[in-house]
Amino acid sequence: MRIGVLTGGGDCPGLNAVIRAVVRKGEGILGHQILGFRHGWRGVIDGEVTELTVGSTRGLLHRGGTILGTSRTNPHKEEGSVAALRETLEREHIDALIAIGGEDTLGVAHRLAGDGVPCVGVPKTIDNDLSATDFTFGFHTAVQIATDAIDRLHSTAESHDRVLVVEVMGRHAGWIALHSGLAGGADAILIPEVPFDVGALAERLQHRHTRGAGFSIVVVAEGAVPREGTMETVAADVDEFGHVRLGGIAMRLAPEVEQRTGFETRVVVLGHLLRGGTPTAYDRILATRFGLAAVDAVVDGDYDQMVALHGTDIVRVPLADAVGQLKVVPPERFAEAEVFFG
Ligand code: F6P
Repeated sequence: MRIGVLTGGGDCPGLNAVIRAVVRKGEGILGHQILGFRHGWRGVIDGEVTELTVGSTRGLLHRGGTILGTSRTNPHKEEGSVAALRETLEREHIDALIAIGGEDTLGVAHRLAGDGVPCVGVPKTIDNDLSATDFTFGFHTAVQIATDAIDRLHSTAESHDRVLVVEVMGRHAGWIALHSGLAGGADAILIPEVPFDVGALAERLQHRHTRGAGFSIVVVAEGAVPREGTMETVAADVDEFGHVRLGGIAMRLAPEVEQRTGFETRVVVLGHLLRGGTPTAYDRILATRFGLAAVDAVVDGDYDQMVALHGTDIVRVPLADAVGQLKVVPPERFAEAEVFFG
């Protein structure tokens, strides 16, 4: 077989580990040809392809980012792109495609599979907001990076009796904020799923400080929103999938906190740091297992499926189940974290 591979959407640690596993099993063990498409769906549309071999993918396991490059190109957004994509698959004699991505990339794979393009999905995103899998690779590494940062911020906040507002990515799900806030001992965690009241937050921080704590750490997800009418918000531009460009909530929140509490307040936006560098061991293993399982699904001709983590097992789920709706933080998980607020 000739198996195509692409990495789409935001990059994250672990992408190269998936590519390495697909090549090691697909080519090294089973003798198939593996073709890497550059820059996500854009490379399939434009026919930007490179052969991947065991030799050309050595030393990838620990490397961050993606050797194939990525993009947020949506073939269904641009006239003629799906036809061009099909022509590429025909010309390159691609028998199946392994799409490594989040809800957008896999949403395209699902739609193409419905039109007869043999696709298998691998769940990737630091946001962990894909349904039908317990975790996506990239998430664990992002949480670790954020937790390490929060640990460090405790000492400077304590030294200056300050409030540190730490903004993390996660788009419209609060998983990174919840996990890193819990792991980092945050005194408040603001997530998109629970609109916040800045007045109540200020009171909670004041209460904490009156009980002897001279500093506080507030972790805020970039997609967190204030309760209606409690704070100004600003509109932002959108990408090809209609996603608004997030970021900046911490910069708006900090002056509100400082003005209401009188505590010196500073902002740290972790942003793309959470997507950088080498994957943790957990993500290397998860990404590797996903890659191996994706080759199995292709060999079995089990298309329009996504490999997924259920407990400790790697299973296959319909792509439709993965991309139908975002996996967001349920109330009971937020309630666990609330025990430690203030
Ligand atoms: O989906 C992953 C993610 O990092 C989100 O958490 C974030 O909002 C978005 O990508 C940023 O996109 P870009 O890297 O294109 O600015």
